[in-house]
Amino acid sequence: MEKVANGIWKMSFGEPEPHTPVRYRSAPAKEAALDGLACPGKAPFTEEEVSIRATPRGVLIELPLGGEEHIYGFGLQLHAVDHTGRKKVIRVNSDPVADTGDSHAPVPFYVSTKGYGVLVDTNRYAAFYCGTNLRKGESEHKKLEQKAVGTSEIELYGYQKSEGNRTVAVDVPVAQGIEVYFFEGPGLREAVQRYNLFSGGGALPPMWGLGMWYRAYSAAKKEDVMRLARTFREDNMPVDVFGFEPGWQTKAYSCSFVWDEGRFPDHEAMLGELYDMDYRVNLWEHLFVHPSSPMYGDLKPHSGDYEVWEGLVPDLSVGEARETFAGHHRKAFVDKGIAGFKLDECDSSDYVHSNWSFPDIARFPSGMDGEQMHNQLGALYQQTILAPFEEAGKRTLSQVRASGAMAAPLPFVLYSDLYNHKVFIRGVVNCGFSGLLWSPEVRQAESPEDLIRRIQTAVFSPMALLNCWRIPNPPWMQVDRDKNVAGEFLDNYAEIRELCRSLFQTRMSLIPYLYTAYARYSEEGLPPFRALVMDYPDDPHTYGIDDAYMMGDSLLVAPIITGTAERQVYLPKGVWHCFWTGRIYEGSQSYLLAPGLEQIPVFVKDGTLLPLAKPLPFVADDAVFQVELHPFGAEARNCVLYEDDGISYGYREGRHNWVKAELDSQNGVRVERTGNFPAHRYLFAAAPARP
Ligand code: GAL
Repeated sequence: MEKVANGIWKMSFGEPEPHTPVRYRSAPAKEAALDGLACPGKAPFTEEEVSIRATPRGVLIELPLGGEEHIYGFGLQLHAVDHTGRKKVIRVNSDPVADTGDSHAPVPFYVSTKGYGVLVDTNRYAAFYCGTNLRKGESEHKKLEQKAVGTSEIELYGYQKSEGNRTVAVDVPVAQGIEVYFFEGPGLREAVQRYNLFSGGGALPPMWGLGMWYRAYSAAKKEDVMRLARTFREDNMPVDVFGFEPGWQTKAYSCSFVWDEGRFPDHEAMLGELYDMDYRVNLWEHLFVHPSSPMYGDLKPHSGDYEVWEGLVPDLSVGEARETFAGHHRKAFVDKGIAGFKLDECDSSDYVHSNWSFPDIARFPSGMDGEQMHNQLGALYQQTILAPFEEAGKRTLSQVRASGAMAAPLPFVLYSDLYNHKVFIRGVVNCGFSGLLWSPEVRQAESPEDLIRRIQTAVFSPMALLNCWRIPNPPWMQVDRDKNVAGEFLDNYAEIRELCRSLFQTRMSLIPYLYTAYARYSEEGLPPFRALVMDYPDDPHTYGIDDAYMMGDSLLVAPIITGTAERQVYLPKGVWHCFWTGRIYEGSQSYLLAPGLEQIPVFVKDGTLLPLAKPLPFVADDAVFQVELHPFGAEARNCVLYEDDGISYGYREGRHNWVKAELDSQNGVRVERTGNFPAHRYLFAAAPARP
């Protein structure tokens, strides 16, 4: 075992492939933070315990998996949380319809409740058999046990868990060599932190990125955009980011990356008006380049040997392709004030539609084949688009539909065309195991109740996004049904506008708290959204929870799905307070809750002084938050917030503060700032006592 950083070890075998996630890492490991994270100082396994060998299929790795262990990770898994006893294939896919491992962001990384993590550094469609089978003969001792012959389908074919000490077998096709990284604990949470710090630390979004997002109708014209933008402001509906869907370009499948002057005459004037109203503009695109695009000629020699939707597939691992792509984005968009992009279609399709995307047999100038490129493409695309923002000294928070290993520093949030609400909540639970961010976006709804329940989840998630690309008007606006092309929304949705506004305002009030959680992601690798098992690894009740999660250190969120008037919520040890009413709940037990439509179950950990800001309609560059401090429990005396300009990379040079706000016995607030950021973004006051 070779030690590569504090708490991180590596085992190498044969000649590793050149195109791997670690090789394409976007940032160096955060060594100082890794040094600061205490660890046992011992690799999780000895070399003798891990077997790596070549097979006619590629490379086979076998790792021990104890009978008591539970494992998590493998990227944005939407169909399971605890992967013990399951097979997961690391293959990027836009339609992850079943629990196969396929994902918008598959990651060959897992963590165990025993307190360690394992990364197999490959872009191959590796299959992880997570203790699915016992070795030949290991069930012999059971031969005398009486097991009645099953006759029902479930007895005959139901899932049977293999018990006892097992192995995780990793079948890596094609490769003739491999590097495997091991991350120490002591707990599962520290192993995740170490993985994120090894990736370069978590992303710190601009503050505005944590506000509300609205993506407009794909066929919207300039006048539609301006009508919506003005109405949000007039109605005091908080919206920070305004997203344009495919219609903004002259060609969209594949893309020209050129504004359509027909729909958007004098688009620069339109952008100016949107900026004057403090909107951040985000543009939809994908990376397949239409022959009419100004980049086409320069990219052609640096593209793969197959087209997608009659467009080029640029090899963004090649410097020339990356520079051309990034250069155009800088000049045509970033320099014109565009704040971010939605990087669509960079996953791939295998299960539905027409198997669009390039084949696995494709060849790219870098030497990558289609399989490697598929699993690496999301990260390469994000890096390419991030470059012009970094050059311009501006932060972005953007969207992407594919990602993979080592992605923690990339300020991009994943989304999907799937739309099952339960699956979307599971995405929030899972994303934090593998350095990813996920948005359970809101599109259409089957009823006002469905809409509100979905907005509640979105508001308590990494990105609060309404993706109204299929409907001309936002769901809470009175619409003329004949003009509402998609037709999903009912006229009486206007009645719930107030409820929507108050939920958006809740999101806005959480920004300082949430921003601080992201700052810890950046500095300590601690994900802002986490499965309960990450904070309570010693509590087996948390192992299978896939419908509740931590948001920062203090909030436990348990969303409700339409049609379910009540739900069980398990609260881990300690005392918890209802976020809305302050009611007290003893932990280490489950509660059956039946909150009305206006409430999503959210619990505050006892001892929290929760900073809640007066909701702003948007986060301007110089926004100052008036923060009320809400004590939950007698011990709640202080809280810490992260403060900087919220838009530039100055924080990397130390221009930020950690602000400690403390309540004294007279309910006065004492504030102490440590750091080098001169201005104050937060003004504090004690919250009025609850009635
Ligand atoms: C899909 C994407 C949607 C929307 C649409 C526009 O691929 O997931 O959110 O952007 O494209 O064509």
